Amino acid sequence: MLSPRQTDMWRWTTVAVLALMAQEGIDCQPSNCSYLHLLDHLNLTSESSKAQSMTRPVKHWRTQTDVLLDMLLYGILNMDGKSQTVTSHVWLRLSWTNEFLTWNPSDFCGIDLVAIPTSDLWIPDIAILEDVSDSGSVQRSPLSTLHPSGLVLAEKRQRLTTTCRLDLYMFPFDKQICNITFSSVNYNEHELKLGTWRGGAFLTSVSEKLMITEGEWQLVNMSILVSSVGNDNSSVSKLIYMVTISRKPLLYIINLIVPLLFFLLLDVASFLIRGDRLSFKLTILLSISVLLLILQDMLPSTEETLPLIANYCVTVFTLVGISILEAMLVNFLLSVDVCCAKRTSAKSAESQLEIQMDVKSHTEHGGATKKVQTKLSRIQDEHQLLKLILTEVKATRKQTEREAKEGKKVGRFAKLAAIIDTVYFILYLIAFVVYIVCMYYEWVNTYFSMK
Ligand SMILES: *[C@@H]1O[C@H](CO)[C@@H](O)[C@H](O)[C@H]1NC(C)=O
Ligand SMILES: *[C@@H]1O[C@H](CO)[C@@H](O)[C@H](O)[C@H]1NC(C)=O
Ligand SMILES: *[C@@H]1O[C@H](CO)[C@@H](O)[C@H](O)[C@H]1NC(C)=O
Ligand SMILES: *[C@@H]1O[C@H](CO)[C@@H](O)[C@H](O)[C@H]1NC(C)=O
Ligand SMILES: *[C@@H]1O[C@H](CO)[C@@H](O)[C@H](O)[C@H]1NC(C)=O
Repeated sequence: MLSPRQTDMWRWTTVAVLALMAQEGIDCQPSNCSYLHLLDHLNLTSESSKAQSMTRPVKHWRTQTDVLLDMLLYGILNMDGKSQTVTSHVWLRLSWTNEFLTWNPSDFCGIDLVAIPTSDLWIPDIAILEDVSDSGSVQRSPLSTLHPSGLVLAEKRQRLTTTCRLDLYMFPFDKQICNITFSSVNYNEHELKLGTWRGGAFLTSVSEKLMITEGEWQLVNMSILVSSVGNDNSSVSKLIYMVTISRKPLLYIINLIVPLLFFLLLDVASFLIRGDRLSFKLTILLSISVLLLILQDMLPSTEETLPLIANYCVTVFTLVGISILEAMLVNFLLSVDVCCAKRTSAKSAESQLEIQMDVKSHTEHGGATKKVQTKLSRIQDEHQLLKLILTEVKATRKQTEREAKEGKKVGRFAKLAAIIDTVYFILYLIAFVVYIVCMYYEWVNTYFSMK
């Protein structure tokens, strides 16, 4: 028989067991199904989690942490030729293994992914060497995802401004290769090794699809180079993304090259103008200087290799300048000529007077004969008339001869001007054609050798 006390105990035990069983029946689920339990298991809720996020998560300190870094290019926002920087919009995904944060999914109702605050985790200190962005341009995702094997995935978006040595020789047909170099600041290669998950070809094709804004640039290729610099024990692992972008040149062709060519052509054609060419040419020169100003805004002020386009602009400017000088010379010669002509026209007026006097004397002389031979018949009168006509003709001839002589003297400068004009025109045309052909050849040749 059980004592009342024992019975009591037994009763309570039964109640407790029943209550436990009832609870089990209500939940109908094992207690390990919530994320909280997982975090408990991972010790992320305890005090020691702080310490965990401070050090490289390896069980043995000599174990290397492999960090895989993928970069996608979302947009090329700006390329500054003056300061030699490229602003782009990139998306980065980092992944590494945290040896402490592992679990067996079957112990936790099959949880195989958990997002936890990035601030509670150790994050590799990867920096971009070329980065000159403002702080605050990074948008780190607040959460990272954790896989049962301990794989951590962290993402961030960034408006990245990187320095890039631009080669503008072929501007606007240029292609730039910009390096984006990732490397750890504090860990050497034995501790932290960088690599990529996906290859460059895959990242290029995805970037091309995702690219939202690329402005005047087009992504050509993204190749990845893994290297390490430094000596044996203190070498640092580096991951270099070599991003090749090419400029879309159409706008510059329409804006710069064609107008310049057209101005040069107009200048050549202005030789056909009879009259004041000078003001027309000056207008052309002014228009070219406006284009030069535009160009100056775009090109860097380096002196190493002058871009071909600068060469082109300067040559066009010089050609037009020289042709203005020539037009001035011709104008001057013509003005000298006009001056001479004025003087000679004064002279010819004098000579006219002479001739008239000549004629007068002739007539007077005729008058005298008339007086003497008043008695002569009408035939003589007619003879007299013929004589008069002869003197008149003689006078006219004399005048025309004089005029012809003077005319030769007057036209000398005008002729010289015409010769200069013709010779210059021919030389100019030859220079124009040779220059354009050379320029075209150089541009096309270099462009295709670059490809
Ligand atoms: C959590 O911490 C306890 C001791 O505090 C330890 O026994 C256990 O292995 C730790 N769990 C993990 C996943 O590190
Ligand atoms: C709950 O997790 C522990 C380890 O933390 C494990 O021993 C136990 O079997 C799990 N329970 C269930 C029902 O999965
Ligand atoms: C980019 O990196 C490669 C490999 O290190 C190097 O050869 C090249 O000169 C670099 N380019 C620039 C523009 O720094
Ligand atoms: C991209 O660059 C890599 C490495 O330089 C090269 O092998 C590949 O052919 C390039 N792809 C294109 C489309 O240019
Ligand atoms: C690298 O470290 C090892 C010991 O870990 C040492 O013996 C060796 O001299 C070091 N080499 C250099 C270049 O510092």
